[in-house]
Amino acid sequence: MTALAVPDRQYKRISLTPTSGALGMEVTGVDLSEPLDDGLFAEIEQAFHDNLVLVFRDQKIEPKHQLTFTHRFGPSEEHPLGSRRGLDDYPDVMVLENRPGKLGPRNDFWHSDISFGEVPPALSMLHAIEVSPGVADTMFCNMYKAYEELSDTLRNFLDGLDAEHNAETLVTEVPSRVRVSEVPPGVVHPVVRTHPKTGRKALYVNPYYTSHFIGMTKAESAPILEYLYAQATRHENIYRHKWRVGDVLLWDNRANMHYAVRDYDESQPRFMHRTTAAGERPY
Ligand code: OGA
Ligand code: MN
Repeated sequence: MTALAVPDRQYKRISLTPTSGALGMEVTGVDLSEPLDDGLFAEIEQAFHDNLVLVFRDQKIEPKHQLTFTHRFGPSEEHPLGSRRGLDDYPDVMVLENRPGKLGPRNDFWHSDISFGEVPPALSMLHAIEVSPGVADTMFCNMYKAYEELSDTLRNFLDGLDAEHNAETLVTEVPSRVRVSEVPPGVVHPVVRTHPKTGRKALYVNPYYTSHFIGMTKAESAPILEYLYAQATRHENIYRHKWRVGDVLLWDNRANMHYAVRDYDESQPRFMHRTTAAGERPY
């Protein structure tokens, strides 16, 4: 068994190198500008579900290649609240841009993408087109492990709980198509969700979008949520990705949180294309 408690797999077409003890694999043997046959894609998908983050280095791809790859996992989507601009030709390819005169969007908070939505995206994918050396890393943590390492008693308590998620903080802090007064009502998701592909249970709460447990007050929920976030984001449960031009990285929103480190200013360019593939209503 690996650190991720999944069976060791035999891969014939791809090679995998761990990016940390907690999650993530760097994949070699794949050119994402070429069509992927079903056998090759099946290995990639398996590696993704076992490891939660996949990194493909030195990819020379266009937006259409990123979309084609995204569509192998599910339909692509625009940002539901318009917090990210899409390309004119490919509105589902969103732009993350930081350059002189234009400070990029903040993502320096632990979150799972769009968990305030009824049907949050299964995965998100970034293609690094321009980076500034040494800065603007992205961190990922493993929410399977965060759940599995809790005591039986706390897990039993959480198994029966739901929590409300809402976009209030996002709309307040990030320019969006909707105004604060129009924030969609909060949605309710299970605190522990079952991954539809692996059958494993993962914690599904995050400090940015989760407001409280259903049936409990915010004051009662807060210390428990804080404890869960502290456990989930222990150094040993994190992979910190240092970006290089040509990286294509995808992460599983069903079983991880991520955090974009904000140690740069607008003088240090960063340009990425972002896509998401649709998921299902968490259960
Ligand atoms: C995102 C995100 C992280 C980054 O696009 O959802 O969190 O490092 N990005 O840009
Ligand atoms: Mn994000």
